[in-house]
Amino acid sequence: MEFANPKERHRRDPSGMLDLILRFPQMCAEAWALPAQPELPALRPQHIVALGMGGSGIGGDMLRALLYDEASVPVTSTKEYRAPAFVGPGSLIFACSYSGNTEETLAAYDDAAARGARCVVITSGGELLRRAKERRHPAVVVPPGLPPRAALAYMFLPMLALLGRAGIVRSYDAELREAVSAVKGTVERLGPDGSDSSARRLAEALVGRIPVVYSALPFLEPAAQRWKDQFNENAKTFAVWNTFPELNHNETVGWGVDPALARVIHVIILRDPREPARLGQRVTITKELAFRKAAGLDEIASEGEGRLARLLSIIAHGDLVSWYLALLRGVDPTPVAVIEDLKKRLAETGAV
Ligand code: F6R
Repeated sequence: MEFANPKERHRRDPSGMLDLILRFPQMCAEAWALPAQPELPALRPQHIVALGMGGSGIGGDMLRALLYDEASVPVTSTKEYRAPAFVGPGSLIFACSYSGNTEETLAAYDDAAARGARCVVITSGGELLRRAKERRHPAVVVPPGLPPRAALAYMFLPMLALLGRAGIVRSYDAELREAVSAVKGTVERLGPDGSDSSARRLAEALVGRIPVVYSALPFLEPAAQRWKDQFNENAKTFAVWNTFPELNHNETVGWGVDPALARVIHVIILRDPREPARLGQRVTITKELAFRKAAGLDEIASEGEGRLARLLSIIAHGDLVSWYLALLRGVDPTPVAVIEDLKKRLAETGAV
C-alpha cells in the first residue's frame, strides 16, 4: 500500500477519515471556544455525570479520568438508558450525543431532567437539541456532518471548558493551548506525510492479529478504550482493552492461554512519562511473566506536558494506527454499517 500517494489514499479512504484525524488539533481549538446557549451559570453541583454512548460516551470517560486528581466532587460517566439513582436537583448532567438521536442517551437525559437535575446537552442537533430547547437547557451545538467518533474533540472538550468557566474546576485554557500544539506534532509526525513511520509499522504488525491494548495507568484507561473502539470502527477488526493495575488481578492469569491463541495477540501498552514508578514496575514484571507469549508487543508513550496534552496525543496516535490498519486490511474506515443497521432495526420495533 502506497500511503504517501494521495490518490491511492483517496481511493481507499473515499470519505476522508484521514483528513478528520489530521484536523483533530484544529477541532480541539474550535471545540474550546464553542458557547453553551444559554450559558451555564456559576454553580456548585454535588456531582457531575456525563451520559453518552460510543464515540459520544468516551468523552465522559476522559472527563472522569482527567479530573480524578482535581475535581472536588465526584465525576462519573454512564452508558445506560437511565441516570444513576443519586441524580437529583444537586446534579450537573452532560447529555452527549453527536447525532442527538441515540435512544439510550435520550432516555437517560429525560430521566435526569425529570428528577430536576441541571442539564447541559452537547450535540449537533436531532431530538436531543429539540428537547433541550423545549426545556431551556444550555446546549453546545457542535458542527454537523461528521462520523460521531471523528467529532471527539467537540463532544469532550466543551464539558471541560464549561466547567472551568462556571468555576467548578480550574481553568484549563493554558493546558488546552499546549495540548493543541502537542497533538498537532503527533499527527503531523505520524501521519502518512510525516517523518516517523512507527504508527504505520505498528499497523502492519497488527494485520492478522488481535490488538490487546493495555493502559499502564488508570489515567490512560479511556485512551486504551478509544484505541480499541477505533480498531473496531475504523479498521473493522476485533480488539480488547484493559488497564493496569486492575489487569494484574485477573487478566494476567488469562495469559495461561494456549500458545496457539496467544500467537494471534499483539499487545500494545500505553505509557505515560509521568506514570507512578510502581505501575512501571508492574508493567515490567507482567511483560516477563505473561506477555512473552504474545506475537508482538509495542509500547506507545503519551506526548506533551499537561494531562490534557498527554491524553489527547495518545488518542490521536491510536486514531492514526487504526486508519493505517483499515487501509492495510482493504476496508473503508468511515462506514459503520452494523451500527446503522442495528439502530434502524431497533427503530422499526418502535420507540422505547
Ligand atoms: C460512530 C460512532 C458510534 C456513535 C454511537 C452513538 O462513528 O462512533 O459509536 O457515537 O452509536 O451515537 P451518537 O454519537 O450519535 O450519540
